[in-house]
Amino acid sequence: MGRIFSGIQPTGDLHIGNYLGAIRNWVKLQDAHENLLFCMVDLHALTTLPNPQNMTVWTREVAAAYIASGINPEKSMIFPQSAVAAHSELAWILSCLTPLGWLNRMTQFKEKAGKHKEQANLGLYSYPVLMAADILIYKTTHVPVGEDQKQHLELARDLAGAFNRQYGKDYFELPEPFILKTAARVMSLRDGTAKMSKSDPSDYSRIHFMDDPDTIVLKIRKAKTDSDPIAGAPEAMENRPEALNLLGIYAALSDTTMEESCRTFEGAHFSTFKKTLADQIIAAMDPIRQEMLALLKDPASLDRILKKGGEEANELASQNLKEIKEIVGFLRV
Ligand code: TYM
Repeated sequence: MGRIFSGIQPTGDLHIGNYLGAIRNWVKLQDAHENLLFCMVDLHALTTLPNPQNMTVWTREVAAAYIASGINPEKSMIFPQSAVAAHSELAWILSCLTPLGWLNRMTQFKEKAGKHKEQANLGLYSYPVLMAADILIYKTTHVPVGEDQKQHLELARDLAGAFNRQYGKDYFELPEPFILKTAARVMSLRDGTAKMSKSDPSDYSRIHFMDDPDTIVLKIRKAKTDSDPIAGAPEAMENRPEALNLLGIYAALSDTTMEESCRTFEGAHFSTFKKTLADQIIAAMDPIRQEMLALLKDPASLDRILKKGGEEANELASQNLKEIKEIVGFLRV
């Protein structure tokens, strides 16, 4: 693997889907690689027009979650996206290579804009182009994300190809998504057919990084399940999405497979399994919560880490942007 980049929107409290689908895998990649980049994508968050205070608070919270989960600022660059202007500059260049037809196919825009397409803002529509710029500005080769980002990653690959073709150069390598099999799509605790999401109105649909142990126990106890015992294999539970989801969370946290988890709990009822699962979640997440609280007590130190990350990222991005501007033919004055 060459360059690794990923990011999360500071649009609210992070949840265990963000942890299992993304951050946990970043920490693993960090063990074997150097100079990874992890961004709080505040420009993307702006498409939802959060109030300015929330934007600041959430950006620090996401940064604290990265560090508390094990992202080491000595090995990885952690920074707010808005600290590196080159993301926005490349986004414009790429937008001139993006046929509207490609954006019209994006399912996330359709979901988010819903029936009010005419009122949706341009930023929301061109969101995937900025995401492609985030990735390509560092000549990223691998992007560790959850499954919901797959279509965006395809667009980033298409845009890398479009740039190379337009300018007759093999400048960008096509970035590869890095999506693990277990917990790539963690589902809502209230509805096993809906993705766990920051924007779900129900707090009981997700476990937050900041939930204390009592809240975790309560949320898992209230999580929707069925009255059948756990089957010995995932295939036997195809029509039981809530059951599969809880077993998937357990498997991911225990670093085993779904098959193995089903074998372990075969015949058990959910009332029993849920106790083990809640303990498992608390064991993984509570130390992270404690560390986040400690980091957030000292915002000045946290900001210094992000400033350093931003400066390092800027250096890489500016060098690449200079080359890109030359390729495009902008006059250097
Ligand atoms: P965001 O902020 O929605 O989510 C951040 C990361 O968490 C993963 N994720 C999940 N994984 C499993 N199950 C879930 N229920 C779940 N919910 C979220 C996401 O897949 C993601 O990896 N567009 C991106 C942010 C972004 C980005 C980038 C990512 C902007 N530029 C460049 C990678 C590279 C987003 O909205 O993620």
